[in-house]
Amino acid sequence: MEGIDPADVARLREAGLAAFTAAADADALEEARVAHLGRKAPLGALQKGLGALDADARRAAGALLNELRAELTAAHEDRRVALEGAELAARLAAERLDLTGPARRPRPGRPHLLTQVEAEIVDVFAGLGFAVADGPEVEAGRYNFDLLNIPPDHPARGTMDTIYVDEAADVVLRTHTSPVQVRTMLAAPPPLAVVCPGRVYRADAVDATHSPVFTQVEGLLVAQDVTMAHLRGTLLAFARAMFGPDREVRLRPSFFPFTEPSAEVDVSTEDGGWLEVLGAGMVDPAVLTACGIDPDRWSGFAFGIGVERVAMLRHGVRDIRDLFDGDARFLAAF
Ligand code: DAH
Repeated sequence: MEGIDPADVARLREAGLAAFTAAADADALEEARVAHLGRKAPLGALQKGLGALDADARRAAGALLNELRAELTAAHEDRRVALEGAELAARLAAERLDLTGPARRPRPGRPHLLTQVEAEIVDVFAGLGFAVADGPEVEAGRYNFDLLNIPPDHPARGTMDTIYVDEAADVVLRTHTSPVQVRTMLAAPPPLAVVCPGRVYRADAVDATHSPVFTQVEGLLVAQDVTMAHLRGTLLAFARAMFGPDREVRLRPSFFPFTEPSAEVDVSTEDGGWLEVLGAGMVDPAVLTACGIDPDRWSGFAFGIGVERVAMLRHGVRDIRDLFDGDARFLAAF
């Protein structure tokens, strides 16, 4: 054979360069590469045919074809780089953020009304020198009832009122925060002054004023020569901090097994009425004794505040269910 026709080489060159230039994307470019540089491309066939040529012709034609392959390979590479750049530019343009647009306003959350009121109540007593104590919501009947002087046959201990976790083992969901008083007295000697905020549970059906889960803040002070006057002064400070500086308190005789005497505490309203807000009393000597405190040396007062009740009175909430429904329109009002 006599070598190869330079006109053929020129045609392959033009066709290859044109194909690479025309390739509009990566797929088209790959197709062009296979067609012009691939194993089955005409250039490959010519190179395979070189072996049949004379030595001189083979050298000349081989150089020519190698040059063509190098040129086409470079053209392919140039096009590949150009397409990649264009693709990146297109992506950047498509994913561009318009930072001049109006910002979306975040809607900040806030503590629930009950959480706010509970914190405020605790704050008032913290300001008076009370520490904060905590106790479990799943409680021993012994702490929830017995050590508080609530006898075994007391109606509050029945399943109608108390939610039992394990009746045989006498484990209950605490029905009030008063067991934290007991735990406090058992844990450390007097003088003691604590408030105990937390959830309590009763076997109550839900209606406008009842919820099986609600919140109390218990208070306990044990020291020397504590009198009902100290209790009254403390509760007056509480009433004025929570409801307004002109409020008065009124103590009405009542009964709780763990206090003697006991009182229902009313707070005056702006229009001359009274609202029942909490229960209180002087810690019953039997409770002090049961908790290892000598009632001849020490005396104390205690009180139990319903947080839902304070929140409802102060903010005019008529239905306790509003405090638990989670309706964003209600929650956003506080
Ligand atoms: N434990 C009572 C209740 O849940 C509230 C209470 C009343 C607590 C008088 C006290 C108290 O500490 O002295 O109804």
